[in-house]
Amino acid sequence: MARIAVIGAGAIGGTLAAWLAQTHEVTLCARSPLTDLEVETPSGTIRATPIILTDPAAATPVDWVLCTTKTYDCAGAAVWLTGLMGPETRLAVIQNGVEQRERFPMVPRDRIVPVIIDLPAERTAPGRIVQRRDGTITVPDDANGEAFAALFAETIVAAATTPDFVTAAWKKLAINCSGIVSAITLRAAEVANDPEVAEVMRGLVRECIAVGRAEGATLPDKLADQVVEWTRRAHPQSVNSLHADFAAKRQTEVDARNLVIVRLGEKHGIPAPLNRAMAALLIAGGER
Ligand SMILES: NC(=O)c1ccc[n+]([C@@H]2O[C@H](COP(=O)([O-])OP(=O)(O)OC[C@H]3O[C@@H](n4cnc5c(N)ncnc54)[C@H](OP(=O)(O)O)[C@@H]3O)[C@@H](O)[C@H]2O)c1
Repeated sequence: MARIAVIGAGAIGGTLAAWLAQTHEVTLCARSPLTDLEVETPSGTIRATPIILTDPAAATPVDWVLCTTKTYDCAGAAVWLTGLMGPETRLAVIQNGVEQRERFPMVPRDRIVPVIIDLPAERTAPGRIVQRRDGTITVPDDANGEAFAALFAETIVAAATTPDFVTAAWKKLAINCSGIVSAITLRAAEVANDPEVAEVMRGLVRECIAVGRAEGATLPDKLADQVVEWTRRAHPQSVNSLHADFAAKRQTEVDARNLVIVRLGEKHGIPAPLNRAMAALLIAGGER
């Protein structure tokens, strides 16, 4: 049994905390108060009563910290680390994008596990979450990644290691960067059936491929077509999180999903004008 602290009691944090609490000692580090967790999962409703903290000063060291805030809330999440991180504690950063390690420069790189999660979940009320599918977690195939994956052995979350995490993270980014067309048009996945929009998606992904390759990812040219096909095969009314956040006038993860391609592209001398332009339009359209 490991001592695990989960920072963030949202869709992902609440779901993972509820699953892990079935076999581990879990502390939930929340910004907004809640009393307990109830998650509707594909295998039925699970309940958990983890230790709940809302004051970072009350945190004490654990074996694992799981950061599940949105990418733009890392500064607030980092405040918890002072109390939670002991000399052996490892930090798993479960967030979108390709910069999981870079968001926590105060933690040694070899104690951070970057995590890709594919687990559709929504919070319906404080501590109340709907998990729509079983879900997968992907981590690097080193000792930390293996130890992290082992935490999920008794859950329906399939946690696996990959020898090429960089490629896996950039592939996910290719899908995510193209999702900006939905946010800007306020149209669900069906927007990919429009041939002109599909061509914009391919352009966004081609920039992602070029920058990802410069960062060490192995990405085939056909990924641009694949992303369009995958989006067309998704439920036509499915709404990605950038679209959902933009429509609700919440802050979005546009920096982690699109502007990161511009920023890292500049480092390598690779222009990403389409990602830059689409992000600019989204921000001008009301993104905070
Ligand atoms: N949800 C999905 O289906 C899904 C799927 C794949 C990947 N992801 C990625 O997973 C990450 C988390 O997404 P999410 O959907 O779980 O977001 P979310 O539902 O908005 O949850 C984020 C949580 O972080 C909390 N938080 C923010 N600052 C905090 C702080 N300083 N201390 C403690 N808690 C803090 C928020 O608190 P409040 O309760 O006060 O808002 C919220 O509960 C994102 O990078 C997202 O892109 C999500």
